[in-house]
Amino acid sequence: MAKTTAKPAAAPKAASKASAAKSASNGQAAPSVQPILNQQFNAPAPLQKYGTVSQRLPIGLDEKTRQQSVTNLNQLLADTITLRDLYKKHHWQVVGPTFYQLHLLYDKHYEEQSALVDTIAERIQILGGVAVAMAHDVAELTSIPRPPKDREEAPIQVGRLLEAHQIILKNCHDFAKQADEAGDDGTNDLAVSDVMRLNELQVWFVSEHVVDTPLARAE
Ligand SMILES: [Fe+2]
Repeated sequence: MAKTTAKPAAAPKAASKASAAKSASNGQAAPSVQPILNQQFNAPAPLQKYGTVSQRLPIGLDEKTRQQSVTNLNQLLADTITLRDLYKKHHWQVVGPTFYQLHLLYDKHYEEQSALVDTIAERIQILGGVAVAMAHDVAELTSIPRPPKDREEAPIQVGRLLEAHQIILKNCHDFAKQADEAGDDGTNDLAVSDVMRLNELQVWFVSEHVVDTPLARAE
């Protein structure tokens, strides 16, 4: 967002060039355009408050239904962002004889969860809501337990990932049912076809690493 000001305090070089340009019609200097900085302390009222739902898009759903779906989807979004980042943490920090396999698998799942994050967030916007986005807000909202900053053994990583998947899947079953009963077929479809299917598939791939097999000798 940029604002037109008559007398900027200190115009950057590019803006100075623009202000030096003369209007073809009257010969007056064109006003320079400056970005509004210092937003942390000087932001105007937001376009839409987080937690509210706009009815602007005509998608045939009432406000109560949209509100319920947006609330549920923001929970799924915060948990999916957290799981996505848990995969990247483990991709970097994995150690042990299965390093290469897990290193690649974790990054594949990270990319898939990342695409899912976008799908969920855009559904929230379509419903007229405001998608949670920043790490601070995600940390407050997520129901997935915070892992330590430390490097952990592969079996611990696997356990953390499977627990996170299960939290998402349990919520997802509940949210899909609520969306179905409210008539929000789009959200129901997203919860089942996108969130549930992907999480179940990833649970399978990660779970198959839960083995107790000697690597150097046959039993
Ligand atoms: Fe990488």
